[in-house]
Formats: sequence, structure tokens, C-alpha cells
Amino acid sequence: MTESQKTAKLTVHGESYDLPVFSPTAGPDVIDIRKLYGQAGVFTYDPGFTSTASCDSTITFIDGDKGELLHRGYPIEQIASKSHFLELSYLLLYGELPSAKDLEKFETTITRHTMLHEQMQYFYRGFRRDAHPMAIMVGVVGAMSAFYHDSTDISDPRQREIASHRLIAKMPTIAAWAYKYHIGQPFVYPRNDLDYASNFLQMCFAVPAEDYEVNPILARAMDRIFMLQADHEQNASTSTVRLASSSGANPFACIAAGIACLWGPAHGGANQACLEMLEEIGSVDRIPEFIERAKDKDDPFRLMGFGHRVYKNFDPRATVMKQSADEVLDLLGIEDNPKLQVAKALEMQALEDPYFIEKKLFPNVDFYSGIVMEAMGFPTSMFTPIFALSRTVGWVSQWKEMIADPQNKIGRPRQLYLGATSRDYVDIENR
Ligand code: CMC
Repeated sequence: MTESQKTAKLTVHGESYDLPVFSPTAGPDVIDIRKLYGQAGVFTYDPGFTSTASCDSTITFIDGDKGELLHRGYPIEQIASKSHFLELSYLLLYGELPSAKDLEKFETTITRHTMLHEQMQYFYRGFRRDAHPMAIMVGVVGAMSAFYHDSTDISDPRQREIASHRLIAKMPTIAAWAYKYHIGQPFVYPRNDLDYASNFLQMCFAVPAEDYEVNPILARAMDRIFMLQADHEQNASTSTVRLASSSGANPFACIAAGIACLWGPAHGGANQACLEMLEEIGSVDRIPEFIERAKDKDDPFRLMGFGHRVYKNFDPRATVMKQSADEVLDLLGIEDNPKLQVAKALEMQALEDPYFIEKKLFPNVDFYSGIVMEAMGFPTSMFTPIFALSRTVGWVSQWKEMIADPQNKIGRPRQLYLGATSRDYVDIENR
């Protein structure tokens, strides 16, 4: 970061302090408060980090008002229509689009790391069959630290590189096997003749008893889902990965922490929660009742798949995902699915409702991705694991960037303490 020329003046308890202001290549200026406590003896207060930049980064940029999402400067709409997931992965990891030769080498490397250590099968078998696939993923990815000792030394750039490739390559196998275990079918091994998305589909839907042919339109839709969820700058799970990693923890442990955070319904769990909500609504005539509940301050119910912390105009990923949803539904000829009918009517009614217009709440990527995955035959419990496998490259890229940053120090937020001040211990007989 270059020396700042601009400053912001802050007056605390009658004393003024000049704070450096940094200008990013895009987005709002940032006030540097790192020395504030040392100089003024005060903390800043920002639960939920609504106004706090936790790091500097060159990977992804979002302009929430414009509905813009850029990866290394390239708009997501162009990436989604012209590129594919492994090329995007290269871009996120290394900062530039690959040459044809570099891409081929990268694809070969990823393809040749897709198998899991055979012993990991026994790890799966320790779970109950009804375990949620996300529970299995948190456990299995964390367990990779016990299987791949030769890529846990974060001070060695080569080991970091191998860990990154392993995570991106093995995550589809890990997610597919979590699904197969959950439904009681045999694990299907990865195939090196298939592309990343087709390979994932065959590991999920093939069975040893018959041939499985991957439908190219479904593979393209799957690949798009991976691309649209690949990275989203400093969201909750990415920040979790960075925070876990700031202590020097190994990459597999850090990514397992990211998966755990992603699971929540306010983040990656929203696509599952959204489909469950559509099922609960059940029919188009019940939509107004649910819209009223979402607007009622005394009812905790929210329209899942609506709203976003950063996008306050539209979610550019949702626009691309909606197109994919139309293509897939058309291909599969399933427009009469009741959940999909409810989804379409809900989208229309909510977008016309003054509450949603005023609060700038519109369908986010999870609203449509759930519909596509439902149509493809995935159960709702697989939606968040698919999000986790897509986001792995984002987590890994942000993790690599952080480790290589000389400013990297352990993340240690402060607090506004509102508890009891110092008091003397009272013996139990006197309480
Ligand atoms: N349904 C009804 N009201 C809502 C909704 C919703 N889905 N989302 C926000 N609001 C209201 C909220 O009650 C609040 O009203 P008021 O100002 O009167 O208190 C206002 O809109 C602002 O909401 P907020 O909770 O302060 O906004 P946030 O930025 O903290 O929350 C969010 C963002 C995504 C957590 C939230 O919109 C939400 O819970 N949405 C449903 C879950 C969901 O779809 N999450 C997926 C996000 S996209 C995937 C990803 O990137 O992880």
C-alpha cells in the first residue's frame, strides 16, 4: 500500500487526530484507524463489519449500488458467458487469464488431484447415514489435514500451491461422496476424461449398474453455478477463512472453518432454506400470507433468497442464474413443477410490493440457483455443499493472498464491554 496523501480529522474528547485516508482502485475511500487506539485511546465500534475494511485485496470487487461484480477486473456477466470454472479458478488464484498452454497445464493438474486418499472412505463410514452432507464436508475437509501432511506447512510456497490444487480438485469428490453416503449408494470415483462440472455430475448421479451419460446443457448449467458462486470478496465465510488462517492454522482447517460458516441460512444455507420455504408455501394462492409475514416486524420469518448485504439494486449473479434456470427448465420440460410455479409468482409479487421496493430487496443468486439444482435432481441438502465446492477457489485465493501479505497479523477484534466491572468473588454459602 502506498503512503496516503489524504487525511480525515477525528475529534475525540476535544483532541483532534489526522487519520490517513487510502483511495482504492474502485470503491469508497478507506480511513486508516490502525493507530487510533495508540493515539487517542479509543476503539471503533462496528458489529457485523458494515463499515469496516478488514484487509486489502486485488481479487474481487463488488459495487452494490451498481450491481457490479468483477473478478480481477473482469465482469461476472462476461466470465459466465465466455469462460468456464477452471479458467475462472486460474484467474482468481493467479490474477490473470491463462494462456492456452497454462490453462491446459492447470486443468491437467486439477484433474489429476481429484481422487481422495482411499483411507478417507472409512472416515465417511463413521458418519450416520442421515448426516447432513454439510456436516460430512466440515468433518472430511478438516480431516484432510490428517491425510495430506506434505501440504500443511504454510511457510512453504510450494506446499501452499499443492494444498490449493488439492482443495479445488478434491472438493467435488468430497461433496459427491457426502451425497452418495447420505443416500446409501456406492461411491463413484472421479474420471479424468470428463471436465470439472461433468465429473461432479457423474460422481453424484452415476451408479455402477449402468452407463451414465452427462447431458452437456446440464454440465454447462452446473459449471455456471460454480462460476457464479466462486468468490464474493470479504463475505462471512471468506472472512472466517482469513481469521482462522491469521493464527497460522493449516489450509484444510481454515477451509473447514469457512464451510462451517457458509452453512448458516443467512449465507450459503439460504438456497436450501429458500427451496424449503417454497415447499412450505405450497401453492400460489398462499403467497400473500407469506409476504405479509416477511413484512411483519414481530414475525422472524424472512423471504429466503431475497435481499443482500452488499447488493442494493440487483444481484448480477442472479440475472445470469435466472437465464440458466430458464434454459434448464426448458430442457427438462418441467415448468409445471409446483415449487417452480410458486417461485415465479413469488418473485413477481415481491418485486411489486412497496416494502420490498423501498428496502431494495430482490431475489439474490440463491433464489435461482436452488431452482436450477432442484430441477437437475439434487435434493435441497446438497445445495449448500455445492456452494461450498464452488466457493473453495475463492477461499483458497483469498487465503493465498493473505499469507503472502507482509502486513498479515493475527485477527483480533476489540469490544465494547458492557458487563460487570471488577467485583469480589462471593463464597457459595453467601449467595
Ligand atoms: N425478507 C424480509 N425482510 C427482509 C429481508 C427478507 N429476506 N431481508 C432484509 N429484510 C429487511 C430487514 O427486516 C430490515 O428491515 P428494517 O430496516 O425495517 O429493520 C431491512 O430489510 C434490512 O435488512 P438487514 O437484515 O439489516 O440487512 P442485512 O444486510 O444485514 O442482511 C441478508 C442481508 C442477506 C442477511 C438478509 O437480506 C436476509 O436475511 N435475507 C434472507 C437470507 C438470504 O437470502 N441470504 C442469502 C444472501 S446471498 C448469498 C450469499 O452471498 O451468501
